[in-house]
Amino acid sequence: MIKFLNPSAEKPYIHFQSLYKEALESDQKGIEAISISSYDQEKKEVEARYVNLKYIAHDEWIFFSNYLSPKSNQFEFHSQVSVLIYWASINTQIRMKAKIFKTSPEFSDEHFNGRTKEKNALAISSNQSKAIDSFDEVAKNFHDALKTITPETVRPNFWGGYSFTPYYFEFWQGHENRLNKRQVFEQQNNEWAEQLLQP
Ligand SMILES: Cc1cc2nc3c(=O)[nH]c(=O)nc-3n(C[C@H](O)[C@H](O)[C@H](O)COP(=O)(O)O)c2cc1C
Repeated sequence: MIKFLNPSAEKPYIHFQSLYKEALESDQKGIEAISISSYDQEKKEVEARYVNLKYIAHDEWIFFSNYLSPKSNQFEFHSQVSVLIYWASINTQIRMKAKIFKTSPEFSDEHFNGRTKEKNALAISSNQSKAIDSFDEVAKNFHDALKTITPETVRPNFWGGYSFTPYYFEFWQGHENRLNKRQVFEQQNNEWAEQLLQP
């Protein structure tokens, strides 16, 4: 589930909120999964991965990750990202373009403090995306960290939120007769310019 904080009443957000409601009512699994593609300047490669979108705070889309992971390194040197959602239950794709930034430490702290100790133990114990000799070692690191977690445990500074504010949305809604509808909202001079694209 995505938490909406102070929801935006701007056109693409109203559209998103209504599709989200429809997908929820259609029992869409993994509704909060979004794919984020980023560019690795050193390797000259584009990489995509799913993350779980936790909040849409007005126009900021927020998820959490390890700040030392490959994605974080990519965001730091090339903040442009491409974001993708597909909800099969309503045959809808949503494409977004945005620049990505870290959330404030206070926002990350608040989210970290509201999570289960298991989730926080994993965040603390994992050098995300670094190779390790065995899965037993992953489990040991997790269980060792879990023993140390108390309600006073503070968020490590290598873990926190990322926020992006899309300036481009494309909503693709598929239809059985192939008359697929593609609606674009693009920010231009602080207004949302609207366009239909051919399928
Ligand atoms: C549905 C789904 C949700 C995920 N959510 C997150 C998430 O919220 N944060 C995160 O760091 N990784 C998440 N992951 C794992 C990432 O896809 C990825 O494996 C990890 O972040 C390492 O990515 P990187 O090496 O590009 O930095 C999720 C994976 C899946 C399949």
